[in-house]
This record gives sequence, C-alpha cells and structure tokens, in this order.
Amino acid sequence: MKRIFCIISCCVFSLVVAAQEHEMSTNYIRPTDPLVLEKLDHWQDLKFGLFMHWGTYSQWGVVESWSICPEDEGWTQRRGPYAANYNDYKKAYENLQTTFNPTRFDPAKWAAAAKDAGMKYVVLTTKHHDGFCMFDTKETDYKVTSGKTPFSTSPRSNIAKEVFDAFRKDGFMIGAYFSKPDWHEPNYWWPYFPPKDRNVNYDPKKYPEKWAAFKKFTYNQIQELMTGYGSVDILWLDGGWVRPFSTIDPKIDWQRTIPYDQDIDMAGIAKMGRTYQPGLVVVDRSVGGEFENYVTPEQTIPAKPLAFPWESCITMGGSWSYVPGDTYKPTNELVHMLVRIISRGGNFLLNIGPSPEGDFSDTAYSRLKEIGQWMKVHGEAVYGTIPFAPYEQGNVVYVQSKDKKILYAYVLSNKEGHLELPAQIVVPGITANKKTKVICLDAPALKLKLVNKDGAAILHLPETLANRAASFRYATTFKIIL
Ligand code: GLC
Repeated sequence: MKRIFCIISCCVFSLVVAAQEHEMSTNYIRPTDPLVLEKLDHWQDLKFGLFMHWGTYSQWGVVESWSICPEDEGWTQRRGPYAANYNDYKKAYENLQTTFNPTRFDPAKWAAAAKDAGMKYVVLTTKHHDGFCMFDTKETDYKVTSGKTPFSTSPRSNIAKEVFDAFRKDGFMIGAYFSKPDWHEPNYWWPYFPPKDRNVNYDPKKYPEKWAAFKKFTYNQIQELMTGYGSVDILWLDGGWVRPFSTIDPKIDWQRTIPYDQDIDMAGIAKMGRTYQPGLVVVDRSVGGEFENYVTPEQTIPAKPLAFPWESCITMGGSWSYVPGDTYKPTNELVHMLVRIISRGGNFLLNIGPSPEGDFSDTAYSRLKEIGQWMKVHGEAVYGTIPFAPYEQGNVVYVQSKDKKILYAYVLSNKEGHLELPAQIVVPGITANKKTKVICLDAPALKLKLVNKDGAAILHLPETLANRAASFRYATTFKIIL
C-alpha cells in the first residue's frame, strides 16, 4: 500500500509549490545591532548553503505538509487511499509519526558531502507547517523523540541536534527553519472548528486566550531551539501569513486573503533569541521590516542585485521534500545558478530532501561531488565576492573581489554543457595597464592579454585555450588582477 501510494504521489506531488507565494518584500530595514550586522556580513560571504526539508511526509513521498491544508490549490491536492475524506487523510498523515524510522541517518556523511561541494551553511526544517518536530520539544508529543515514533529509541533521535552538531563540526553556519503556523497545534487549528485554509481557524481577537497560548507555545519552542542546540546563527521563519495585520501588503494577492491579525510577537522572539544567540540573524520571511534580516526569493534568481542581503532557495530536484525517483537538475544548471546568484550579490541555498531511511539519493551525492570538483578550481571567484556591473552579458557573468582589485569573468557553457570560448571577450568598465594580469583558473599557466579599446578592455583568447576549453566543465573563470 505504502509503495503504491508513493508511486501515485510522486507523479503528482513533484510539483514545486507556487513560487509566487513568497514575493520579495521591499520594506527592508537594516539591523542596527552590530553583532547581527557582523554575522550577516559573514553569511553574505559564504554564498552557498544546504537546505533540507525533512519530516514524516518523506515516507509517502508527498509535498511537505501542504496536503493536509484544506485549500483548493494544485500543491495541496491529496492522493492515495485516504484522499477522499479529509479527516481520514489527516489522521493517516499524522499517523506517519508511528512509522518514522530513518535508520540510515548519518548527518556526518551529509556534512562531509556538503562541505566537499563547497557549501558553508545549513538550514534544516526543525518543524514544518504540519507541526511535526524534528527536535526534542517539551511542548508536544508530535515529535521525533516521542515514544510514538520508532526512531525515538535511537541515540540520534534528536535529529535537529545531531544535524547541527555534525555540520558545526565541519565549520558550517547553522540555520533553523521553523514554521510559525502549526497545523497540529489545537491553539492554531482549534478542533472546535474545522480548518478552512492555512490560517489560524478562529479569530484571535475573539479568543485572545487561545492566541496567547499559541504565542507562548511558539515562543517556548523557539526558546528550546535557541538554548539546547549549541550555537545557532540563523532563525529562518516560514509561514508569512502569521504576521501582524499592519504588515500586509495589499498589492500581493496571497497576503490580501489573510483573514486575521496573527501577531506572534516577533520583537519578543528576536530579543529572546539574541539573548541566547548573540547576533542571531532572524529571517521573518516575506514580512519585511526589522525581523527579516535577509530576503528569500524562492525558486527564482533576481535579474539585478537587490539593495539588501538576500538568498535564493532552490530545489535540486522538483520538490522540497523527498520524492522517489525525483528528477534532479543537472550539475551544469546548478553551477550556473550559483554563478548567476552571486553575480547579483545573493546566496544560493540549495535544497535536498532526505529519504525516509535518512539519506540522500545517489544522484544528489553525485551532483554535490561534481559541484565540489568545480568549486575546488573556481571557489576563489565565489566566496567573498560582490557584484560587478553589467553582471551578465551573453554567456559572460561578472563578479569582483570586495577590495575591487580583482575582477572575475565567468564564461558559462551552453545548456548541453559545452564550453565554447569566443576569440575575445569585451570587459566593460575597466582599463588595463602594464600591471594588469589575466589568469584562466582552468589553465593558470597560460599567458593571456588584455588590451584597451574604446573605453573597454578586450581579453584575447588564443586558439590553444579554445581547444582546451572542451575539457572544462560548466563554466570557466578569467581572473583579472587590476
Ligand atoms: C514553499 C513551500 C514550503 C517550503 C518553502 C521553502 O513556500 O510552500 O513548503 O517550505 O517553499 O522555501
């Protein structure tokens, strides 16, 4: 039965949940806490991180959480034997807790693969909208460490702690994804009323004591994450409909439909978080203002640099959560995404959904390995760089070092992965002088020439290099030392 369900659902749920749900907020407020600024600055230099969506839903291979949300959207559709009746479905979904047993869970293996790929930070779903906690909370029994969950008998059952410890050991910055809405919690979806949509299912103004209890629950859970899990750098809060009414942008469709004020007291949460985790970067996603310290375009890359820190989160497969037989983006495309994102000054948070057994697919490992091989040669043109106008022209993408003394021009391969080098590249906005040096990172011994012409510098690429380029993968880089 489980297998049949997986097969049906993997065809249908491999859709990526509507990217437009998370339009970028524009009312960015730069933090003033020097420790937050310092952490944010450091984070911006890291460029490349690993996102993991993992929960009991991975056992069915369905979209994370959304199939229990009673909205009529493509990504909320129920499939499988319980689909016909909402209550049966929710019960069966929540019952997945009693079979969750990822016996192959070995976060050190993930950390090693991510590190080798050149990733420098990690964000894990400690709790998604369905409310299942991948950490040892005292606030609910709907958690991986509950006696109801078979994995609770493992010494590694506190998954968030194990993941954070393993990645921290490998030098990663640590990010806790946490969903503000909680579709298991009776003070968010009060069983007295049936849930109608993703929002709280009662009017918090009418039942203030219920909302106060939910606020306390949320505060307590975040406090647990901020205290029992070592140093945490990023609190990545999802579920932007949980927000004060005053922050709703009426120009954004999905925000107009939020029925109630759902003020969760971000000021209090951020203050508490930063008491335990000085400099904590808070990402109150899509809400804008003081507690969205960086902005998170989803499944997209902005065309131009943005005026604030940002990160594109993008799935390696077709889905955030594990889907058996998912189709993964080719390495070529993933490297190009990274290059394009950094050329606009952003970070790339690349998502992999671990399997119900607790591992990545072989394909995911091989993508990471190939990205790593490329990063070992080109990493110096990735980390700590800033944008350089015109950012991208044809198949050439530019970035520069922070001190602006080095310019990096990437030449991207075509979609099929072939790298064809032109005879020359026009590099706008710079003037070469006697000291200017050019190095191709894939062929550092080769001497290259840059000459000035009509207000630009022309980089001549000899035929010998063009011939060698056939063996270069994904993108090559010209390092121009000014
Ligand atoms: C989308 C999905 C949500 C997921 C998030 C990650 O908004 O709806 O389930 O966690 O993307 O960015």
